[in-house]
Amino acid sequence: MDILENFSLKKYNTFGIEAKAAAFVAVHSVDELRQILQENPTKNKFILGGGSNMLLTQDINALVIHVDLKGKKIVKEDENHVWVESQAGENWHEFVLWTIHQDFGGLENMSLIPGNVGTTPVQNIGAYGTEIKDTFESCEAMEIATQKMRTFSYSDCNFGYRESIFKQEAKDQYIITSVIFKLTKKNHAINTSYGDILTELAKQNISEPTLKDVSNAVIAIRRSKLPDPKELGNSGSFFKNPIVLKSDFEPIHAKFPEMKFYEVSETEVKVPAGWLIEQAGFKGKRFGDAGIHKNQALVLVNYGNATGQEILTVSKDIQQTVFEKFGIWIEAEVNVI
Ligand code: EPU
Repeated sequence: MDILENFSLKKYNTFGIEAKAAAFVAVHSVDELRQILQENPTKNKFILGGGSNMLLTQDINALVIHVDLKGKKIVKEDENHVWVESQAGENWHEFVLWTIHQDFGGLENMSLIPGNVGTTPVQNIGAYGTEIKDTFESCEAMEIATQKMRTFSYSDCNFGYRESIFKQEAKDQYIITSVIFKLTKKNHAINTSYGDILTELAKQNISEPTLKDVSNAVIAIRRSKLPDPKELGNSGSFFKNPIVLKSDFEPIHAKFPEMKFYEVSETEVKVPAGWLIEQAGFKGKRFGDAGIHKNQALVLVNYGNATGQEILTVSKDIQQTVFEKFGIWIEAEVNVI
């Protein structure tokens, strides 16, 4: 394993931000990961997966460990289900396509999400009515301090909306090395409840969609709304959709009756941050090389040479303006480093 010094991370973050790692190493197995941790006990460490959910605002004065473990396989099956395991460094979308190709159901609504498998449990990724928690069985992770492996079951993970134990109590303590998903072999629970999917399928005259049809519909919707990080640097949704107490929401809604919202519990509603940002006038705006995407206001983009600080400044301006206009604070979803 080569440790590279003063290493550019531009190709390792989907925002395409130029930032340097003091030291960088890619690990390809659990043994390599253990070795590098054992050999560098005192160095600060920074764990890097697919780099699709972070904004680098500075150089990283640490040993950056790029988790590049590959491999996927079926670990168990019964009449109705199959348990598939993917190593952390597999590309998420390629993994999803691999499952669909074998007619395994459960991940199709999350097609084309950027990033690697190992980071999907961290923020419980989700799209079009499905979240990772719906099919997650367990994951293996190495404790950084002891290099011991630990299995996290579904209930250990405390999943919530874009939340898990890995963003809370276990933050910065574990490196996820593989994940197991429980998928269907038959009687797939096709989920087309998210409005856009039905519209897209209707366009193609499909009334009884297969897993592949749903995946294709999601891919078409994402391509039409969300920029491809290979063409335009971005990190998907930059903000979370805020969850607001109904009692706080009522006076806001009275003032802005056209505001969209979805009930999430008896006492709370979720408000689409994209709508708030668009109404605050930011959609499609550009400030130097930092901007707000023209088709989806939740997505901040790097037109080429934006620095992380410039994107952060735009994000703060958005938060402040949205708060002043609507009295709702929107939180970043992306990890700001
Ligand atoms: N909206 C606007 N203006 C915009 C964007 C959205 O008014 O610029 C409104 C839409 O009209 C719609 C509502 O907001 O009524 C919801 O929009 P959309 O379906 O595009 O989804 P979202 O809530 O903006 C979330 C996820 C996305 C995921 C989509 C689809 C979060 C933070 N984001 O976005 O996830 O793809 O739903 O399920 O929950 C990501 O996390 O990186 C991501 C892309």
